[in-house]
Amino acid sequence: MAEIKLQEITKQFGPVEVIIHADFTIKDKEFAVILGPSGCGKSTLLRMIAGLEDISSGKIIINNRRVDTLPPKDRGCAMVFQNYALYPHMTVKGNIGYSLRIAGVPKAKREKRISETAELLGLSDLMDRKPGRLSGGQRQRVAIGRALVREPDVFLFDEPLSNLDAKLRTKMRLELRRLHDRISATTLYVTHDQVEAMTLADRIVIINRGRIEQIGTPKEIYKQPATQFVAGFIGTPQTNFFRGTIDKTVNRFTDSGGEVFDLPKEITRPLNHRDVVLGIRPEDVEMGGNTVTARVDLVEELGSHRILHCSCGSTAISVLDESEEEKQPGEPVPLGFPSGKLLFFDPETGSSIQPEKTGLV
Ligand SMILES: Nc1ncnc2c1ncn2[C@@H]1O[C@H](COP(=O)(O)OP(=O)(O)OP(=O)(O)O)[C@@H](O)[C@H]1O
Ligand SMILES: [Mg+2]
Repeated sequence: MAEIKLQEITKQFGPVEVIIHADFTIKDKEFAVILGPSGCGKSTLLRMIAGLEDISSGKIIINNRRVDTLPPKDRGCAMVFQNYALYPHMTVKGNIGYSLRIAGVPKAKREKRISETAELLGLSDLMDRKPGRLSGGQRQRVAIGRALVREPDVFLFDEPLSNLDAKLRTKMRLELRRLHDRISATTLYVTHDQVEAMTLADRIVIINRGRIEQIGTPKEIYKQPATQFVAGFIGTPQTNFFRGTIDKTVNRFTDSGGEVFDLPKEITRPLNHRDVVLGIRPEDVEMGGNTVTARVDLVEELGSHRILHCSCGSTAISVLDESEEEKQPGEPVPLGFPSGKLLFFDPETGSSIQPEKTGLV
């Protein structure tokens, strides 16, 4: 049982508040990913759990035990960093076994744990090599092995794959997920890469400027973003946003540039006269619909599909186009916004507004 509970955690560096009231629980055996842009406080949060950084206020509870007052070694966490920090003069075996040796684990037991770990990570044939003669992926596996051999309650990863090339990252990502499915240790994994988060996580914790924006499964985060930030952060190309006002008498949304979008009355009625930000994902826009007409500016051909970068009045809109027809810059394209796919946000707070939840439908 290794549940991680963060209760009202804050962190200040001098006058600057870098973590603002983090309050959430990572379930036993869960693979949770902390996702957010550079500088939002991901590493700080992880380091506070590991005990490498003090908290300013709040409580951290692991395994029903308050740990924020304990030194790192007593918290039952093992951390893997971006720069693997292997001992260059030690072999793979020496690196993996180091913490056990320091902890005074008897030789026979140590040997057994080292060889089990190496086997699990596919390192058995490399035991006598030094890190300088390993590939990036192999080094990363040794770093994981060094954490794994301690049989921690909790695994903390801080961007462990960001030094690897794109292909190796994808491979290691799958390996990490498989490893988790085999050993089922509670895992907290930090990344700024949304694809990594979506593919690895049971649940994602999205942070923006020290504040938690949403916690949910990858599907929930994609389908029901709680804020405009989340809708914009998840998805490539980015979600299209238009700021404007809704008028139910003509069933229209007029954006700030004067562009007019026809919308169904079940949407315009509950949101009548409201200033809103309307969002729609490029993959949800229908070619040949009748919501609005845009003009193609640039075509990005990707083989299986293309991305059309268009303008809709003064606002840019990108559209995923899977049709056979080629499009040329300058061409007008009629677009449809399926009402079930529309996202609405409060322009001031950024919070999601769902028409069906206004109670007026
Ligand atoms: N020791 C420190 N003293 C002062 N400010 C700090 C310190 N460490 C981090 N910060 C600030 O705290 C904020 C959060 O930093 P943190 O390293 O947690 O971000 P991050 O989300 O991990 O970013 P990245 O994706 O770039 O690694 C940043 O604005 C950073 O400048
Ligand atoms: Mg970081």
